Amino acid sequence: MKSSKNRAGTDKNIWWKDGVFYQIYPRSFCDTTGDGVGDLNGITKHLDYLNDGTENSLGIDAIWLSPINPSPMFDFGYDVSNYIDIDPLFGTMADFKNLLKEAHKRGIKIVLDFVPNHTSHLHEWFVQSRSSKDNPKRDWFIWEDRGNAKGGRPNNWQSVFGGPAWEWDEKTEQFYYHHFLKEQPDLNWRNKEVRETMYDQMRFWLDIGVDGFRLDVINHIYKDNQLKSNPYTIGRRPYDMQKHIYDKDLPECINVAKDMRKVVDSYGVEGSGAERMLVGEVYIKNPAEAAKYYGDGKDGLNLAFYFDFSYKSFKAAAFRDAVSTWEGILPVGAWPTYFLSNHDQPRHIGRYSKGGNGEIDMRARVAATMLLTLKGTPFLYYGEELGMRNLHIKKCDLKDPVGIRYWPIPIGRDMARTPMQWDDTDGAGFTASKTPWLPINPNRSRLNVKAETKDEDSLLSFYRKLIWKRKETPELTSGAIEILPNIPKGIFAYRRVVGDQSCLIILNFEKGSKSFLPELPEDSKDAVFRVLFSTHKDEGKNIEFKSPLTIQPYEATILKLEAV
Ligand code: GLC
Repeated sequence: MKSSKNRAGTDKNIWWKDGVFYQIYPRSFCDTTGDGVGDLNGITKHLDYLNDGTENSLGIDAIWLSPINPSPMFDFGYDVSNYIDIDPLFGTMADFKNLLKEAHKRGIKIVLDFVPNHTSHLHEWFVQSRSSKDNPKRDWFIWEDRGNAKGGRPNNWQSVFGGPAWEWDEKTEQFYYHHFLKEQPDLNWRNKEVRETMYDQMRFWLDIGVDGFRLDVINHIYKDNQLKSNPYTIGRRPYDMQKHIYDKDLPECINVAKDMRKVVDSYGVEGSGAERMLVGEVYIKNPAEAAKYYGDGKDGLNLAFYFDFSYKSFKAAAFRDAVSTWEGILPVGAWPTYFLSNHDQPRHIGRYSKGGNGEIDMRARVAATMLLTLKGTPFLYYGEELGMRNLHIKKCDLKDPVGIRYWPIPIGRDMARTPMQWDDTDGAGFTASKTPWLPINPNRSRLNVKAETKDEDSLLSFYRKLIWKRKETPELTSGAIEILPNIPKGIFAYRRVVGDQSCLIILNFEKGSKSFLPELPEDSKDAVFRVLFSTHKDEGKNIEFKSPLTIQPYEATILKLEAV
């Protein structure tokens, strides 16, 4: 049996460890004003869909809201012009408080996106900063004189969204630095006032009662003190042709993660029942580096997204190795988290697609079962429960600045941000407007909440059932994980264990059927297992491992240890 220092599960019920998170991209969830853009009241309207306390609802426990702060929307909210208010496009502060109250009434937590690396160029702080060299806010951003790099720039740093990362400011005759768009100037986190002010912005929301933050590009917030140029490497775009050792992933970022943890912990430490949390967008390929954001397992981020896992192709061995690596690397006490889709990358159903709709749907079920039964907090992305697809969007309809810049290279993000499909009408129940901000996928006629609610075999019914099963089975939430060794290619199998209770999860990532006898520990070798949940086997049926078990193509089965 594979063991790692992290085998332990949790002993207490902590909401951000046991719960299922659901990411909402507010522009695309539900529009109640008819302007074609989703809003806060639209989210409140659908809270019962997310969790009304019964198995008729999806059953999620927490929402991560992509940014809702005032923003000129050059990067759709990730360019914040005021951290402590609501963009009128989404509603008012009263609407937000109502959403929070209604969510909490249903036991749903609300986690906001916090964007610490950069503001909007229209944020009052930057407006002041760029007004003169001796403005008190000048040092809140990163200003530099002409240098020796191409174009007289201070160094060779590139914007991840394309072009050089330095923008010349005519008025004060210096460059300012922006890792993303030029409309997103980077804050200078080396300035103490900046740090303290940013922690105060977090306290503003914590005081109102929000349950935590998703920290946008937290690993970018510090840059090399001497602004050294990055060494070159091979890559497709100029940004990828550099090793980013001086413009991101500096150890100082981890110190800030720890300071932020102190801020949230001051509102309720783990186990108090009032705990708040932080989940970091730690966009680092090397898992060992990403894991450092957990600190010693107690003093860093509560959760750090594991990007390397989310990028794996649909292969049992790839996911198995990714999980086992992460489990082996995380410090003792750290709790993993997994996601497959978010607003920055093509939806996983599209990335895993192969064959016809039937096969795509089966793959989506295997992926969902894995996501919802691994040891770690699962994050779902709105619409994944419906099987919403990536939509190919015509150039003239593109909105994402990244998509527009690189067209026709398909790296834009609009394809995964199309409106939620509530029903099969023209506006998909998302909007009454004829011109939603992004086109609605024509497959809404088939893939929508209304139709899938009625259909017991739909992907939505599958997610609902699985989420509620998970909730009532402590092994699946807080259990330790043990990956089964020596299994046939194409299968990923693991046990989740709490005391003498355990579940065995078997996932077939391939089209062929497989037959195998799992290597179980002595205490459960002769045991009887009950089918708790399965894409193929009859639920409630007993299984004993006296002879090899046959697993059907793309089968996902959860067996619960019944009796020894
Ligand atoms: C993060 C966000 C992405 C945004 C970028 C700049 O990666 O997820 O949507 O464009 O940061 O804020």
